[in-house]
Amino acid sequence: MIVLKTAHEVDAMRRAGKITAAARALAGEMVKPGVSTKAIDRAVHDFIVGQGGRPAFLRYNGYPASTCISINDRVIHGIPDSVKIKEGDVVSVDVGVFIDGYNGDCAATYIAGTGSSEVRKLVEVTRQSFFEGIKFARAGCRVSDISHAIQQYAERHGYSVVREYVGHGIGEKMHEDPEVPNYGNPGHGPRLMPGMTIAVEPMVNMGGAAVRVLDDGWTVVTKDGKPSAHYENTVLITAGDPEILTPLDGDGGDAL
Ligand code: MF3
Ligand code: CO
Repeated sequence: MIVLKTAHEVDAMRRAGKITAAARALAGEMVKPGVSTKAIDRAVHDFIVGQGGRPAFLRYNGYPASTCISINDRVIHGIPDSVKIKEGDVVSVDVGVFIDGYNGDCAATYIAGTGSSEVRKLVEVTRQSFFEGIKFARAGCRVSDISHAIQQYAERHGYSVVREYVGHGIGEKMHEDPEVPNYGNPGHGPRLMPGMTIAVEPMVNMGGAAVRVLDDGWTVVTKDGKPSAHYENTVLITAGDPEILTPLDGDGGDAL
């Protein structure tokens, strides 16, 4: 069942989204050689709690941290640990905040230091694939119009999109209907309506689309060991242009 949000609920989601985006920006600023992913996770945790929120991922299905930090061939759901980030690492940070009954969810990939031109392009194409997708995040379009635009853009640049994990509706629960895949033919799935809130989150692999889960039960990695990038925002469908509820300022995109 797809929940349409009232104006009051949208206000609450704007608040949640702002804090979520600020947490992402904080994490992005910390992505530097020599910093451990655990240190980033702790800083994000303390920031969210200081804002009066709760890290939405912490203890979600038993997940042990406040962020997911996935380096290089890790696609999503990387568990922060004491390993230090190295020069050129491709670092995807995903964060969720629950506050006043509503959730925000967003992610971005940052490069530690300069990185190769290959990984810089992967990060930029992944980010842009989100914006290509949300050109169709409009009332009257259908969910798979977004999916198709993301896939087309990523594949046109020689990359693959991950199939096993998808974007999602979001609101009182972090994961609501509908599912928002990053692949597919246009013209399928639910029709978008004003008041729908969805997390659109392309996961783009430099090599093949195939992924597997490590023995920790969480970390998703590419099967071919090539790098992957992730970009996500919580988006409101309106009568006009979509509104990004996890605003972009400081998300690292400008640094590219
Ligand atoms: N951001 C992820 C998503 O969009 C959620 C992370 S999974 C968790 O589905 F278990 F860590 F919360
Ligand atoms: Co999400």
